Amino acid sequence: MIFAKRVAVLVFTAVALILLLRGRTPNYRSTLQGLSQSVGLGELIEDEEESSQQQQQEQDLRNGPRPAVDPAAPDTSLLHHNVSFASSPFPPATLKPAGEPYTRALVAGRLTTENTTWLDTYLPTDPVLKPFIYVVNDHSAPLHTPVNKGHEAMVYLTYILDNYDSPSLPDVNIFMHPHQIAWHTPELLNHDSAETLKRLSSERVVRQGYMNLRCHWDPGCPERIHPGTSYKDNLKREEIALAKAWAEMFPEDPIPAVIAAPCCAQFAVSRERIRSIPKHKFERYRNWLLRTQETDWISGRVFEYLWHKIFTDQDKLCPDTRSCYCDGYGICFATPEAFETWFDNHHWWTKATKELEKWEERAQIINGVGNWKKIEEMRLDIPIPGRNWELKREIDERFQLLVRMRTEALRNGTDPEIRARVAGRPWKEGNGY
Ligand SMILES: *[C@@H]1O[C@H](CO)[C@@H](O)[C@H](O)[C@H]1NC(C)=O
Ligand SMILES: *[C@@H]1O[C@H](CO)[C@@H](O)[C@H](O)[C@H]1NC(C)=O
Ligand SMILES: *[C@@H]1O[C@H](CO)[C@@H](O)[C@H](O)[C@H]1NC(C)=O
Repeated sequence: MIFAKRVAVLVFTAVALILLLRGRTPNYRSTLQGLSQSVGLGELIEDEEESSQQQQQEQDLRNGPRPAVDPAAPDTSLLHHNVSFASSPFPPATLKPAGEPYTRALVAGRLTTENTTWLDTYLPTDPVLKPFIYVVNDHSAPLHTPVNKGHEAMVYLTYILDNYDSPSLPDVNIFMHPHQIAWHTPELLNHDSAETLKRLSSERVVRQGYMNLRCHWDPGCPERIHPGTSYKDNLKREEIALAKAWAEMFPEDPIPAVIAAPCCAQFAVSRERIRSIPKHKFERYRNWLLRTQETDWISGRVFEYLWHKIFTDQDKLCPDTRSCYCDGYGICFATPEAFETWFDNHHWWTKATKELEKWEERAQIINGVGNWKKIEEMRLDIPIPGRNWELKREIDERFQLLVRMRTEALRNGTDPEIRARVAGRPWKEGNGY
């Protein structure tokens, strides 16, 4: 369910209290050891109560930043330069002649109370994009879900079922969250959904059938979910739930040892790809979501790590970050080294900016107090004189470099040959993106 913040806080408090009074630790290890993991695993795993930590994470998921990831931390995924795309069971896509536009849909869910005015500003600038904004808690809205359950997964599956047979199902279907700025939206796109929509390459989506809009690996890649695990990891509670769901959702496929893909349920899928998956499968997925006893936080998370399985039939899909930016959004760094340099500088720029903020904050307090004896009593770290100028110079220099490199990368991204080279696909004169 997507619910209003205040209700969420009340529910959270109530649940936390109940749990505090009950407390029980089921033993998954003994239940699961030695069992075949491909059949019937679902029934063998007991259900379990929420801990207050998970309830907190549930709220974080709805309200934006998820605490496990520090956006300012260096991104180790940048060090992986290669990816192997396992062979796809889907037929190769047919692209339109270079330069011919693709029809596109934006699919998102929102609460009646959620502010999406950024879309009112964005949509007129992108006449090809048709919005499908589902209101999850208002049955009188023109587009709504059968129930408010399972976070965005219910919205995405409802859209697919509503439009699967429609003659106007667009070439490219973009599924994302309704807020404009989100930490999980690519950094080089300023975490901005409008920028993501504007730059997203329809050609890459159609060529690959499915594209995760997030280029960075963490969280989710290179490995995250081990569905067969008998050990309950509180930071990955969807792991056990996913194993339970698997048998129902993919009864033909054994449970894989590892599931991996970048997080956060924002992706684009081609019409061809949607239609090459039988409709009854989408009905099965949504029925699981309608029936499940899992909390919304868990069921939403289960899907977060299944979309790539649903649309590519691969267990692991960790595309190279630099190719994702270049081929997916036209931001092309010529070499892995240049790409890393940009993120290194971004990291130090963020750090220096934060340090300067702290310096100024303390300086302001000290100026305000103006009494050294009292300042000593406050045990405030005295800002080092002149450090602010050093920081300002560093911030300025790094910023200039970041802008210069990004501008160059954007210019390189207008060259279809560079895009093809960075993505590791063949190209010949006259080919478009
Ligand atoms: C990709 O990198 C991994 C190590 O990170 C290496 O083992 C593998 O051989 C590489 N694959 C290709 C195709 O270069
Ligand atoms: C919605 O957000 C925009 C900024 O994106 C703001 O200008 C506007 O006042 C907000 N509207 C409401 C009703 O909160
Ligand atoms: C852009 O492309 C040129 C020519 O390939 C290359 O020299 C330059 O380093 C590229 N810029 C970036 C930021 O990678």
